[in-house]
Amino acid sequence: MEFIKVTEQKEPFIALIELNRPKELNALNKQLMEEVRDALQVLDKNEKVRVIIITGNEQAFAAGADIKQMADKSAIEMLLVDQFSTWDQIRKTKKPIIAAVSGFALGGGCEFAMTCDMIIASETAKFGQPEIKIGTIPGAGGTQRLTRAIGKAKSMELILTGRFLSAEEAHFYGLVNKVVPKEMYMHEAIELAKEIAQLSPVAVQLAKEAVNRSYETHLDEGLAFERKNFYLTFASEDQKEGMQAFVEKRKADFKGR
Ligand code: HXC
Repeated sequence: MEFIKVTEQKEPFIALIELNRPKELNALNKQLMEEVRDALQVLDKNEKVRVIIITGNEQAFAAGADIKQMADKSAIEMLLVDQFSTWDQIRKTKKPIIAAVSGFALGGGCEFAMTCDMIIASETAKFGQPEIKIGTIPGAGGTQRLTRAIGKAKSMELILTGRFLSAEEAHFYGLVNKVVPKEMYMHEAIELAKEIAQLSPVAVQLAKEAVNRSYETHLDEGLAFERKNFYLTFASEDQKEGMQAFVEKRKADFKGR
């Protein structure tokens, strides 16, 4: 792994992926995204991992797709290389992913954070889709996910002007879960991860899948999907343990089965 650093057990059950191209503000070149995809596939299968945190550094989560790598490409080259299809596989990760964002999360960097399930932001974070300023548009979900996250009017403004959203505004518009001082954003992401990691991994996976379905379908189908996953949790030992523990007034011990 040249452009990312993976720590399988940052804390028990919590893995950390750090984007590591600091000189380029973690610009997302093809290899970096392939490394992220491969790491997520391995972590998704590792029983000792229940929650994954993805972060950059204090200065930048990621300043976008690598402009230098794309600048001279023709449309057909872009189509044939289709490097952004790796993102589809990232999206299929079953375990919850928390983005811990400090500094720039722009273009593909903002889209990458939004591909994760939750975002913890440092107060220095800046979100935006500035592609319009370099003569292009978002290509990895920005027009769709940003609009769903913050609404049409604000999303139009950001995507048509390339303006940035401060961490505070991002919180106001519901793009991020929480904003904390910059010394605290990793700590806060780990705390959130720990809370989820204590719970039944089976139920967490089914819940994530059901929430994501709300993006992909209309209400009737989403409700049916949710109900099916709800019933499916009753096939797990974790559901029996969780409900039994409640009845016995003790803490549940979830095994992921
Ligand atoms: C390649 C990048 C880069 C990028 C920064 N760098 N962003 N290289 N691709 N997206 C490099 C710079 O060239 C520079 O390297 C070094 O990182 C530091 O950047 P500076 O510009 O000197 O820093 P600063 O003045 O602090 O400005 C920070 C910045 C600016 C505001 C974030 O770098 C910027 O505007 N970056 C581009 C943001 C952007 O347009 N992103 C969208 C990309 S398109 P050198 O070697 O020159 O010193 C996109 C499409 C997504 O994401 C499609 C699907 C994924």
